[in-house]
Amino acid sequence: MTNDPYALATDAATALKNAAGVDSVDVALVMGSGWVPAADAIGETIAEIPVTDLPGFPPPAVAGHAGKIRVVRTGSGKVALIFLGRTHLYEGRGVEPVVHGVRTAIKAGARTVVLTNAAGGLRPETQQVGEAVLISDHINLTGANPITGATFIDLTEVYSSRLRDLVREVEPSMAEGVYVAFRGPTYETPAEIRMCRTLGGDMIGMSTVLEAIAAREAGVEVLGISLVTNPGAGLVGEPLNHEEVLEVGRATATRMGVLLSKVVDKL
Ligand code: HPA
Repeated sequence: MTNDPYALATDAATALKNAAGVDSVDVALVMGSGWVPAADAIGETIAEIPVTDLPGFPPPAVAGHAGKIRVVRTGSGKVALIFLGRTHLYEGRGVEPVVHGVRTAIKAGARTVVLTNAAGGLRPETQQVGEAVLISDHINLTGANPITGATFIDLTEVYSSRLRDLVREVEPSMAEGVYVAFRGPTYETPAEIRMCRTLGGDMIGMSTVLEAIAAREAGVEVLGISLVTNPGAGLVGEPLNHEEVLEVGRATATRMGVLLSKVVDKL
């Protein structure tokens, strides 16, 4: 065993570049629940590699998370790695597999990481189901962190304000908000949702924050976008289910795909 968290990622990056026949990649996008159908708009597929062909990736556990990495060439000639699904902390495999994709992408050359997710909306007064919201900051309530040891990483600006400005050149009306992450896999109780509203949260989910921290540790710029798929538990009285989350993704795929492709072209 090595203590270098990047050793496995370095191996995976080499295997990935060999499998796709590319020298380097420019950007990585992680497609959360509901976002996978939006991937088709981002560019021409060069290769699609099952994550399980690469060192360090566990098999996928959630319906709607395909467990593949698509390598695409974008309209502006960039090479993008698109993770069609991600590993979550609630799968019980620990923190390392959760951030392995981001670390692999960074070792393959990515200098920008775009993290997407499906989220509950904590502000139904102003948020619509199907709306994409820029993540301006996060509150990590997972109890986990991808960094161990006395490595004190500055998190003053996890989600790049430069990249948020760039998205607003494409979509001027896009709101931004604070993403709160729990470990899951249960959805939250209404009392937890009220707590998160009081704490200043705007969206609630089970992903993104650990990957964002791993990217910032490596000095890479992060863009985070939540697709609001439902109001948080108890805010409108309807029970929550994963199928509804995927359905909102299918219904908004074209719009989200166009947004992402325009943003990636501007990077
Ligand atoms: N809570 C947590 N995760 C989610 C939600 C939610 O309401 N919706 C989509 N992912």
